[in-house]
Amino acid sequence: MTTSNPRVRKAVIPAAGLGTRFLPATKAMPKEMLPVVDKPAIQYVVEEAVGVGLNDVLMITGRNKRALEDHFDRVPSLESTLTDKGDTKKLESIQAASNLGDIHYVRQGDPNGLGHAVLRARQHVGNEPFAVLLGDDLIDARDELLGTMIDVQAKTGGSVVALIEVDPSQISAYGCADIQELDGEGYVRINRLVEKPSPDEAPSNLAVIGRYVLHPAVFDVLEETGPGRGGEIQLTDALQELATGEGEGYGVYGVVFRGRRYDTGDKLSYLKACVQLAVDSDDLGPGLREWLPGFAAQLSK
Ligand code: G1P
Repeated sequence: MTTSNPRVRKAVIPAAGLGTRFLPATKAMPKEMLPVVDKPAIQYVVEEAVGVGLNDVLMITGRNKRALEDHFDRVPSLESTLTDKGDTKKLESIQAASNLGDIHYVRQGDPNGLGHAVLRARQHVGNEPFAVLLGDDLIDARDELLGTMIDVQAKTGGSVVALIEVDPSQISAYGCADIQELDGEGYVRINRLVEKPSPDEAPSNLAVIGRYVLHPAVFDVLEETGPGRGGEIQLTDALQELATGEGEGYGVYGVVFRGRRYDTGDKLSYLKACVQLAVDSDDLGPGLREWLPGFAAQLSK
């Protein structure tokens, strides 16, 4: 499959969460700005969207999120200081964030769940398919996912979720999919979706991760979706309606991802993600690889 499909042009990135799992670090700073190796987590996500041609990015933000806008904006005074010093490497590193696509912001207002956040994108997105990327999931840039999902959306005309296989004990942290294999296709059909089921209620061990390519029919459904799990408007509930109901743009499909994904949603996963990505980085990798085995050996003594 190719990754170029001009039909999907817009990416929506919900970033209004309070980041309570990372307190006190996120008391005065958005969790999306926590550095993963040497850049904020959110930059990886925007780079992923722009990397498959989604140059129009809408972030759904809230109070306390000014740093996000500042990060993706230019800083002329810092640029001239670095230019005067001849520090091209650092200059390029700060320009990389401000040269990423065309970034728009809308506030969620009343944070009332992921479905509510996505509905806030309605006016900006209009009547075209669009991608949703959740910042807690980082997909390794060397592995392909979003481009494939965009192709599956074009082929099926429905909506597409990304799935991973998880240990059954982990499924209650995710949306869970009951699927039907499709002969000869690299994707599956979704029969049913359940938000965060207990392991004994879960229809499978296939978990929805934070990448979606949605048909705009989801907006009408979200308008009608009442509070679900946790009293919040759940995107999973709207997708369940699209998977089982009938109408233009209905039908939900899944792409099972077997590549490298890093969860940055809680402190321990975040620390693991930082180490995993740092050992592969050109400048920090060699030093970290040299130090890690000795450190690990001390731990097992
Ligand atoms: C959200 C979705 C859930 C999905 C998860 C992926 O949950 O509601 O269906 O599996 O993202 O990261 P959250 O992690 O925001 O609670």
